Amino acid sequence: MKTYLVTGGAGFIGTNFIRHALTLNSDWRIINLDVLTYAGNPANFEDLPPDVAKRYVFIPGDIQDKHLLDGVFSKEDLDGVIHFAAESHVDRSILGPEAFVQTNVVGTFTLLQRCLEHWKSSNNKEDFRFLHVSTDEVYGSLGSDGYFTENTPYDPSSPYSASKASADHFVKAYHRTFGLPAVITNCSNNYGPYQFPEKLIPLIISNILAHKPLPIYGDGKNVRDWLYVIDHCEALLAVLNKGKPGETYNIGGGAERENIQIVHTLCDILDNRLGSTDNGTSRELITYISDRPGHDRRYAIDAGKIKQELGWSPRYRFEEALEDTVDWYLQNTSWVDSVQSGEYLKWIEKNYHDRQS
Ligand code: NAD
Ligand code: TYD
Repeated sequence: MKTYLVTGGAGFIGTNFIRHALTLNSDWRIINLDVLTYAGNPANFEDLPPDVAKRYVFIPGDIQDKHLLDGVFSKEDLDGVIHFAAESHVDRSILGPEAFVQTNVVGTFTLLQRCLEHWKSSNNKEDFRFLHVSTDEVYGSLGSDGYFTENTPYDPSSPYSASKASADHFVKAYHRTFGLPAVITNCSNNYGPYQFPEKLIPLIISNILAHKPLPIYGDGKNVRDWLYVIDHCEALLAVLNKGKPGETYNIGGGAERENIQIVHTLCDILDNRLGSTDNGTSRELITYISDRPGHDRRYAIDAGKIKQELGWSPRYRFEEALEDTVDWYLQNTSWVDSVQSGEYLKWIEKNYHDRQS
């Protein structure tokens, strides 16, 4: 049996990773340490089949809590740590950056330091991995051509990407200075089940269903490189199993789309699913609002290294996986209702109030 510690596993990507990895690997146990911010939902694991559920352990707690971490590291003989825990939303980092420094920088540092102490005294030094899950946003913005490679200089624009960049540097330093067998992944925008409806795709789906305005920042022509979350999870497994300590791997979907294209596609899929309504077509809900400050224009990943060295490339086609994602949200309206709590409504008011352009 192998045992992995996952941080932030009750969030979007962590949930998909745990569910996928435990189903795929019947000899894995996963301990999920998550402080359960607004973005974490422990109910995401309530429907695990019994043979999977018995290999899943949830520990509520903060990655900044040294004593809690020491307890986990000394009790468990870990084969690795997969570190997802973060504050992850750019708009929130603009309105309240402090939590991003605390969790993404101080939290990552605390986790690295506790991990290092225990790794030094463990019998399992060779095979242990610290997998740090990061973002392509650390590279800043591209113009209309070019791609991010692993050698692109860091140039973050938002407090979110600055905090992730800082965390990446600490991870690299812990490998170079102390030999901690760490690997870093920098991935493009994910979409799929269990994503909190503050991010573009689930927000637009929710708003279409509620006949609310569909907010488009700026001219709607910013480009993101979209990756289905299960493809990301498979890339992370490839890096965990075959990645070289000290290396960085960029992960991307090769599916560049302008935001407005995404919104049009979602409107069309939902109009098709729901049939025509008295409210007209969903595209009529599109509302341009003032731009996000420091809004990166384009992200695009060169995923050549992970393909050549580890044999990973995305399996899902964007338009098909987007339809599957819409269907998941249509079939899981109670999940969406449960996360759209008072805190969510306050956030929507804070971010979108007074932004009509
Ligand atoms: P998310 O916001 O959905 O989930 C984050 C999780 O971390 C939540 O469950 C939250 O409760 C937990 N958490 C926050 N602070 C914590 C703390 N101090 N201690 C313990 N747990 C804490 O985020 P996500 O979209 O699942 O992203 C996961 C990781 O992947 C992040 O590190 C993010 O930077 C990275 N990433 C995300 C994307 C994307 O498109 N979503 C793309 C590339 C990289
Ligand atoms: P988001 O999902 O927040 O991811 P990120 O900022 O990390 O790329 O946003 C994706 C794109 O969609 C980004 O260019 C901002 C834009 N956007 C809107 O136009 N309207 C919205 O309401 C949101 C949340 C995002």
